Amino acid sequence: MTQEGSQSEEAGVPYYRAVGDIPRKRHTQFRRPDGGLFSEELMGQEGFSSESALLYHERPPTAIHRIEAFDDPAGELRPNHPLTPRHVRSHKIPVGPSDNAVTGRRLMFGNADVRLSYCVASQTSPLYRNGTGDELLYVEAGSGVVETVFGALAVGAGDYVVLPTATTYRVVPDEGEPLRMLAVEARGHIGAPARYLSKRGQFLEHAPFCERDLRPPDAPLTMQGEDVEVLVRTRGGMSRFVYAHHPFDVVGWDGGIYPYAFNIADFEPITGRIHQPPTVHQTFAGPNFVVCSFVPRKLDYHPESIPTPYNHANVDSDEVLFYVGGEFTSRRGSGIGHGSLTLHPSGHTHGPQPGAVEASLGVERTDETAVMIDTFAPLDLGVAAFEAEDPDYAWTWVAPGGG
Ligand SMILES: [Fe+2]
Repeated sequence: MTQEGSQSEEAGVPYYRAVGDIPRKRHTQFRRPDGGLFSEELMGQEGFSSESALLYHERPPTAIHRIEAFDDPAGELRPNHPLTPRHVRSHKIPVGPSDNAVTGRRLMFGNADVRLSYCVASQTSPLYRNGTGDELLYVEAGSGVVETVFGALAVGAGDYVVLPTATTYRVVPDEGEPLRMLAVEARGHIGAPARYLSKRGQFLEHAPFCERDLRPPDAPLTMQGEDVEVLVRTRGGMSRFVYAHHPFDVVGWDGGIYPYAFNIADFEPITGRIHQPPTVHQTFAGPNFVVCSFVPRKLDYHPESIPTPYNHANVDSDEVLFYVGGEFTSRRGSGIGHGSLTLHPSGHTHGPQPGAVEASLGVERTDETAVMIDTFAPLDLGVAAFEAEDPDYAWTWVAPGGG
């Protein structure tokens, strides 16, 4: 139940699931109440050689009236040159009152494997799917519904939402507070680290979460409509398809591919007598990147432990941290607060701010919540990385007085 995910580790996929009405045998006649046949669609990875889902549409999912190019509003990436650690205050990125979770994405960091964008969604997004890879949305604040061809997912603060490649979806924020999200667009598949899973794909006892923590759709979602627009992300940019029928017309599906939500508060932290490496916080694996969850937890309990992280040079990865909750005591004095995103690139050594190590001695717990994305290739910078950058961040490791 695993697939090729990255150079370092494979990404697992969730267990088999069936929702709604499906025929007893696959690829057999399955009729609508009016006597016509439902349209069966196989959504399969690696051709027909890996995980798949079978979806039953009321109308053919292939009927399109029009295709046109759509300008990707994300803009270009440029190298992080000269090499500089970055701090972006995402809450200061300019947003519009009609921004949504698809065309309102503000590209911050990216490379050939993955792109990281921030968005503040007040409006319902267009229907959309990513044809180049899985997407992972992290909800920083707000609530809403991610409507998908597999069904709806109610989401709120702290939710990760995994959307498999080619899943048509849209994001509907609730009235009131906008949805603040970090969007991770992969060029491949995202799943739990393979080391958390048995040979047949069940979560193992040492994994920090398991199937009970994953929230897939539990009912079909059907809508009526004709001439329905869907934006499609491709390697060449974005395209707009106009479908004869609304793509949300699936009465049932089954298989091993489907979207799901997972709340960061359901991640059970692994702690130790001395400092544990970020690998114990790993939550997802993608092609040439990992995602880790830092959650409130007891700190190291060796009598002489240093709970603050050691200085580190991640010689094979760029490290992005998204600070979303609690106090970040190891970074006190850096200007980092809620909504901050930092980029510590390969070739740069980073660590706690001056005084943080001594201040941490004897501290027994942390209430921090943060999401980390480590990429195995350098990250370039998008427009949004410059719109709300703290220009003094690189010098914050110098103690007052120049030490
Ligand atoms: Fe780090």
